[in-house]
Amino acid sequence: MRVLVTGAGGFVGSRIVSRFAAAGHTVTAAARSLHALFSVSTVTLDLLDPASITAAFVAARPDAVVHAAALADLGKCESNLQLANRVNADGTALIADRCREHGARLIYLSTDQVFDGAAPWRRETDDTNPVQVYGQTKLNGEQAVLAEAVVAPNAAFCIARLALVYGLAPPGSPKLSAVEQILAAASAGETARLFTDEYRTPIHADDVAAACELLALLPAERLPPIIHVAGPDRLSRWELGQLIAERWRLDTSLLEPALQADLKVGLPRAKDVSLDTSILRGLMSPAPRSIKEGLDAVHREWVASQPRGQTGSARTS
Ligand SMILES: NC(=O)c1ccc[n+]([C@@H]2O[C@H](COP(=O)([O-])OP(=O)(O)OC[C@H]3O[C@@H](n4cnc5c(N)ncnc54)[C@H](OP(=O)(O)O)[C@@H]3O)[C@@H](O)[C@H]2O)c1
Repeated sequence: MRVLVTGAGGFVGSRIVSRFAAAGHTVTAAARSLHALFSVSTVTLDLLDPASITAAFVAARPDAVVHAAALADLGKCESNLQLANRVNADGTALIADRCREHGARLIYLSTDQVFDGAAPWRRETDDTNPVQVYGQTKLNGEQAVLAEAVVAPNAAFCIARLALVYGLAPPGSPKLSAVEQILAAASAGETARLFTDEYRTPIHADDVAAACELLALLPAERLPPIIHVAGPDRLSRWELGQLIAERWRLDTSLLEPALQADLKVGLPRAKDVSLDTSILRGLMSPAPRSIKEGLDAVHREWVASQPRGQTGSARTS
């Protein structure tokens, strides 16, 4: 299968590229700026530049597109609604339009942040109601995909809503993943304040990539229009931090419990965006791993990535 992956230099996109390439698919990695890390064909693609999208499709001739590119920084979205919407909604509309033109299946990566967090274990059919600009613009992207599906009922489109993704950021990335942020804070002796009342269903980045491959290969008649892609465990940020601290043997006194209400300023935050994954579990075997298994895998990868003798760089108790 020929697969085009947008946002290929990002945290999730880079894992998807690796997964498809390792499985023997012909992968084209699309990113705004290309770097030497890619071991597959590359194209430059900027969602703000429709001509670059057209050129990427012509070069890749994809059977399937995994659309991972997004303005995924919540703060930047909040401070620049117009840009967030152009990238996350208009850019997605362009990708969906080109998929229809080229007869390519589209897997659009959306987010648990389309929900308001008022109730746990949200299903695909539940009402959406984002509380942040990021979630709203990703939802606008979903609506663009659904609108394209109405115009082209035979086209294969799937919206995959991801929960919080954990793992290690790609080598050389300027951004740290959620796990790495806690490690960096511990290493600097800084206190990390973690919410005890904010719940997610975290998923290992490699399980997201495995789900994307499944969705790309699934017979069209079995492809769900919307699917929740999440891990099996519902955890607060605080509980997740405790598990990370336990696995890395960090000094737990550096983790401080907090309530969302303690945050007097800052972004609006959804309380509980845990996702029900009944549909995914009916399709995917093995299903996404537990948080304990996932953190063990991240820890092994982290140890392997450390220069010799430096695995104690995060402050331990
Ligand atoms: N990580 C999570 O926990 C999580 C949870 C739910 C959903 N998601 C979704 O998963 C997808 C991937 O997220 P991520 O965590 O991997 O984010 P990320 O690391 O920020 O990756 C996003 C990628 O999109 C690219 N991008 C940004 N603006 C672009 C533009 N105008 N044109 C082309 N590419 C552009 C970025 O390129 P640059 O490197 O050049 O900026 C980056 O490589 C997103 O759609 C996100 O909404 C992620």
